[in-house]
Amino acid sequence: MNLSVLWPLQELLRTGLEVRTTRALFARVFDYLDRPVEIVERPDAIAVTPDHMRGAVTIENVTFAYEKGGEPTLRNVSIDIPAGSHVAIVGATGSGKTTLGYLLARLYDVDEGAIRFDGIDIRDLKLSSLTEVLGVVTQEPYLLNASIADNLRFAKPDATGAELAAAARAAQIATQIEALPEGYKTVVGERGYRFSGGEKQRLALARTILRDPPILLLDEATSALDTRTEQAMSAALAALSKGRTTITIAHRLSTVRSADMIVVMKQGRVVECGTHEVLLAQGGAYASLLQPDRA
Ligand SMILES: Nc1ncnc2c1ncn2[C@@H]1O[C@H](COP(=O)(O)OP(=O)(O)OP(=O)(O)O)[C@@H](O)[C@H]1O
Ligand SMILES: [Mg+2]
Repeated sequence: MNLSVLWPLQELLRTGLEVRTTRALFARVFDYLDRPVEIVERPDAIAVTPDHMRGAVTIENVTFAYEKGGEPTLRNVSIDIPAGSHVAIVGATGSGKTTLGYLLARLYDVDEGAIRFDGIDIRDLKLSSLTEVLGVVTQEPYLLNASIADNLRFAKPDATGAELAAAARAAQIATQIEALPEGYKTVVGERGYRFSGGEKQRLALARTILRDPPILLLDEATSALDTRTEQAMSAALAALSKGRTTITIAHRLSTVRSADMIVVMKQGRVVECGTHEVLLAQGGAYASLLQPDRA
């Protein structure tokens, strides 16, 4: 990861300047900071306002290989996600879940098929619009070596202290922040206060709540969480997913169970799709993921 790109941006933050495109670009890589960006914006790309997006997501027959002409990592993946619904994507390690997330955030372009937000091919959107429409929280969210308040204000530079606190409360991280001697002024990141993995993810959720995107993509932490953290995470997610399309790459049963639709991936393909009850009764791939010994 190239940290040098961050310093000018931290400088911007300090001086209170706001350069919209820079911020949008930065927000874009914020949660996928260590991923290469290999795509280009079309000269006639269109801008959309997130407020005007309903948030329907269509993944249409998508095939993708990391190496041109190589073995595809995703094959003919089709998922129709109605606006406002919550979809959980599950599957064995290496089945292509995170790769699908990269394509949704357009870190790579599909080789075949298309991904559309409200019917618009994401390749036709300005990258700044894409950033505003899709909020991403990854397994390893990045925190700037700056105060908690500054980290949150990256999402919304003009946010008031009350707005920061409200977002932190919704993300179930306010109590931990307020217990610190310096509260929201506490410096975090590589050289500051170290939050645990679960706390970092909730801080990233707070950041995304401030950005308020109509579509949310969440790659859940794989590691097991203790019961209290698990409950805090579930409450934070419920707050965040309310009223927006939520796509969760899910590792926790509580997230999967409450989803409107579960998509099961296997070796780069969608093999099952349905609610928890229906898939469990079906006794197929989903059922054996839950109870491996029965397979
Ligand atoms: N940047 C990359 N370049 C080449 N191959 C990759 C890259 N990232 C992932 N892969 C390969 O693509 C396949 C799918 O990986 P992916 O990370 O999407 O799986 P996943 O379902 O998210 O797994 P997990 O549950 O372990 O997170 C794997 O075979 C992986 O090795
Ligand atoms: Mg993954």
